[in-house]
Amino acid sequence: MRRKFAAGNWKMNGLEADLEELTQLCALHPDPAVDLMIAPPAPLISSAVVHVGVHPLAIGGQDCHPEISGAHTGDISAVMLKDAGASHVILGHSERRADHGEGDALVRAKTQAAHRAGLTAIVCVGETLAQRDSGETLEVIGAQLQGSLPDLINAAKTVLAYEPVWAIGTGKIPTLKEIGQVHSFMRNTLSTRFGEETGDRLRLLYGGSVKPSNAADIFAVADVDGALVGGASLKAEDFTGIISALEEAAE
Ligand code: 13P
Repeated sequence: MRRKFAAGNWKMNGLEADLEELTQLCALHPDPAVDLMIAPPAPLISSAVVHVGVHPLAIGGQDCHPEISGAHTGDISAVMLKDAGASHVILGHSERRADHGEGDALVRAKTQAAHRAGLTAIVCVGETLAQRDSGETLEVIGAQLQGSLPDLINAAKTVLAYEPVWAIGTGKIPTLKEIGQVHSFMRNTLSTRFGEETGDRLRLLYGGSVKPSNAADIFAVADVDGALVGGASLKAEDFTGIISALEEAAE
């Protein structure tokens, strides 16, 4: 049985004072029945770890460089994230792919770096609206999965997130049937490549405009093991509704 996972991506939002939201989130879910993670901006990671204390809310990074150290101004390595107290890292997010021209091969190298550092990699895939409209969704997702994951996968430390680019921050989501189609395609693709046992073990998150109001419906879709949440993870009072919906789906 795959343990459900609610992950929050703060993107380029949040200052030290906003870490109070983490304290509140921990208080709202003292003994969560699902795995929880928040990825704040990198400068807040160490402090976030202190705010969380012994609570099982994990802290993650939003990107890492494939190398351990070196002359790469402005970049952060997986080892550095780990050293700061992070246990997870989001990789291949569509905003990284679009803003920084990241391709699948780079995402794969970052995934390997994350694993070498002992981090859980949350690898994102997703189609643009133009790709969906021209019927290429599954082809695009298949190619991204193939290119972004290493052949020797560390299944215990890999999570996949399906985030349709056009659903991110727009309030639009695919139909539940469309989400189900992509997740089942991902499960089958991963099982074919890595074997049934590994394919069955990898958790598949949905991301893109997940809110407390639509979370229960999304979590009822087969092969959706949780969510990667942007805007609605910034405030404890919003994220708690999503976490509670996931806890109910886990019962
Ligand atoms: P929103 O939940 O704000 O749509 O963002 C989703 C996302 O990109 C999470 O990584």
